[in-house]
Amino acid sequence: MSESLQAKPVLVVDFGAQYAQLIARRVREADAYSEVVPHTWSTEQMLAKQPSAIILSGGPSSVYADGAPRLDPALLEAGIPVFGMCYGFQAMVQALGGTVAHTGLGEYGATQAQVSDTTSTLFNGQPADQSVWMSHGDSVTEAPDGMRVTAATSGAPVAAFEDDERRLYGVQWHPEVLHSTFGQRVLENFLVRGAGIDTDWTPDNVADELVAAVREQVGEDRVLCALSGGVDSAVAAAIVQKAVGDQLTCVHVDHGLLREGEREQVEREFVEATGVDLIVYDAREQFLTALAGVTDPETKRKIIGREFIRAFEQAARDVVEDRGDEEHPVKWLVQGTLYPDVVESGGGEGAANIKSHHNVGGLPDDLQFALVEPLRTLFKDEVRQVGLELGVPEAIVWRQPFPGPGLGIRIIGEVTAERLEILRRADAIAREELSEAGLDREIWQCPVVLLADVRSVGVQGDGRTYGHPIVLRPVSSEDAMTADWSRVPYDVLATISNRITNEVSEVNRVVLDITSKPPGTIEWE
Ligand code: XMP
Repeated sequence: MSESLQAKPVLVVDFGAQYAQLIARRVREADAYSEVVPHTWSTEQMLAKQPSAIILSGGPSSVYADGAPRLDPALLEAGIPVFGMCYGFQAMVQALGGTVAHTGLGEYGATQAQVSDTTSTLFNGQPADQSVWMSHGDSVTEAPDGMRVTAATSGAPVAAFEDDERRLYGVQWHPEVLHSTFGQRVLENFLVRGAGIDTDWTPDNVADELVAAVREQVGEDRVLCALSGGVDSAVAAAIVQKAVGDQLTCVHVDHGLLREGEREQVEREFVEATGVDLIVYDAREQFLTALAGVTDPETKRKIIGREFIRAFEQAARDVVEDRGDEEHPVKWLVQGTLYPDVVESGGGEGAANIKSHHNVGGLPDDLQFALVEPLRTLFKDEVRQVGLELGVPEAIVWRQPFPGPGLGIRIIGEVTAERLEILRRADAIAREELSEAGLDREIWQCPVVLLADVRSVGVQGDGRTYGHPIVLRPVSSEDAMTADWSRVPYDVLATISNRITNEVSEVNRVVLDITSKPPGTIEWE
């Protein structure tokens, strides 16, 4: 989509650590629009973005290290307010002629900073003593000319400086991390008092802009969208629907590996809420046949991926044939790409790569579409807010992550229609009780797993049973890269266990997975 509609971003220059994305998020939490750019961009490229302010992020290296990224002094002379953090702070010092020295007094972790002026632009309204998060080996011992030093720590005599005339600011610490107690206040002070930004950007008031951008991009052509039932594709579809109405056709591939009620949620609730033209492509038999006899997890994943592409291709051909015409071909494919997918920190190189996702893997030549990616400037929680603003049902907006291969990778053993039915019922009970207990937004997700090839002896009523175990895998996580098992209250677990063993006759045992990630992954396959 055209990013020019989101004029005047706060540019976050990525010096290569993981901090740039987090800073961009914090800027948005302060209601200003932000974009991350790599430090390898030239000053001209950055200024061409017409930034309202520039933030220089932290980075992994010493400014004296070989190949350490440099800051072009011209960026500090362009009249744009600049705020340097950690490495960005030291890079400013180097560019402006102060002194960065190996003092042997590195600081790592929580550190006390003494603010010498609590009415300054950055520190107005904050206590003189504050806890800040540090991560530096070198220290600034002499501030550049014209810079007023406004904070110090025991290891960093110059821990913050400000110059209201040139509107240049910096702190040695990481205000973006929560351990810096007043970090967000310092950032907001920079944005509002230092840079004079009207902080009025919020995801719900950009919904209209996103819609307008799609309208402009797509014109009169027809658009196709694969609707999984997940939040990203649903919100992307809702934006496109609002933009071009009936020019959009959504395809929902029912592979039979969905959870109870999910197809209906898309078919009924989503269609009612948004009015989209929806085709449900029933591929349940196709998937079951392809998966027959397969037990190896990776083979299952490959088969499911392949069959999905096949089913989607078939459905897409139908749409191209039925909905398009010569004047209005089906030219566009909606993709729910999010901002973190677009910007990736470049790690060790100290450089950021801008990665764009170009296609749904493996579509054949006669089915090549151009991409509409209405969410490519948004973070996940912002997508949810836009979704709510556009009336996407809450059950979809707040849906927990669910893997593409669905229940297929939650049956340990061969996937059959009967086993899917057992798992679907157990999963529905677990979801119902976790919701009832108000835990939906507390836990990241809770896979429910059927150990289909395992049986154990039980007793029910007067009889002996020989049934399957069900595993509950509730986890808490921030990003699914690491996770811990959730401490779900015992009484909730007890209710889930009782209900599953009472209501799903094939299951006679419910077990709880108490493994963190690592070493265990979240899904069992
Ligand atoms: P693991 O099991 O690797 O899962 O700890 C991490 C997160 O990714 C989800 N997941 C997937 N999502 N397609 C997806 O869209 C997949 O093939 C897939 N496999 C795992 C998983 O549910 C968890 O949130």
